[in-house]
Amino acid sequence: MKISLITGANKGIGKEICRQLLAKDFFVIISGRNTAMIRDVQKELDQELKKSLALPLDISNDESISIAVERISAMYGSIDVLVNNAGLLGNTSGLLKMTEAEFHEIFSTNALGTMKMIRAFAPLLAKAKKSRIINVSTGMSVMEGLTSSHAPYRLSKVMVNALTMIAASELESKGIEVFAVDPGWVRTDMGGPSAPLTVKEGADTIVWLATEQVGVSGGFYCRRKRISY
Ligand SMILES: NC(=O)c1ccc[n+]([C@@H]2O[C@H](COP(=O)([O-])OP(=O)(O)OC[C@H]3O[C@@H](n4cnc5c(N)ncnc54)[C@H](OP(=O)(O)O)[C@@H]3O)[C@@H](O)[C@H]2O)c1
Repeated sequence: MKISLITGANKGIGKEICRQLLAKDFFVIISGRNTAMIRDVQKELDQELKKSLALPLDISNDESISIAVERISAMYGSIDVLVNNAGLLGNTSGLLKMTEAEFHEIFSTNALGTMKMIRAFAPLLAKAKKSRIINVSTGMSVMEGLTSSHAPYRLSKVMVNALTMIAASELESKGIEVFAVDPGWVRTDMGGPSAPLTVKEGADTIVWLATEQVGVSGGFYCRRKRISY
């Protein structure tokens, strides 16, 4: 059974990724920083608690990441799929109005958190025969469309895109493929109630890249198609 690790899986798109991967017979490590919520998700999605593990993990905290690596290493020895889904949107501030504290909070989760997860889990991904990292990005990071609203969020996700390309190049020799995905505008706490897509639709391309042999490593995908960064 292939082993997957999903960050920010206590709700929204992350929870739905877990649901879809379980349906495809993956073992799913349901991680998040809210321990009660990830346990509830595990009970809801895997009633017998045999195909999943609820793992506390705050991707902005070095110690939390180290503990997660040690636990997964001791329990399973390797992982096949890492989905870097956890993210924060923040408010609509542009460059001049955003505070540095706001920028640091969003950057340390979306950008640095994703980078730390890739660095920390690369050795366990390399131990699997062929493995994949899926970084959840956004259409708001596409270079041609960059505008000033949500400046910290856009800047952090531009780094996620760059990380995807750099990691794809560096990890190719270790048999690890790396993809970025724009899930579209999805009805979650982050996307809000007016978003046109369901979580099922938002998780679709992520799960497709995680489970099928379809993507070009380093590429950016939306609705099962390759798009430009
Ligand atoms: N919804 C959209 O329209 C949309 C569009 C484009 C891209 N995305 C991307 O899709 C991903 C999932 O978003 P969503 O819509 O499902 O949002 P969401 O419902 O707000 O979920 C975000 C998840 O990230 C977790 N998270 C935040 N900071 C974390 C940290 N430091 N460590 C671990 N987990 C952390 C949250 O945990 P807590 O509950 O503890 O805060 C939550 O589980 C994000 O990367 C987002 O940028 C979403």
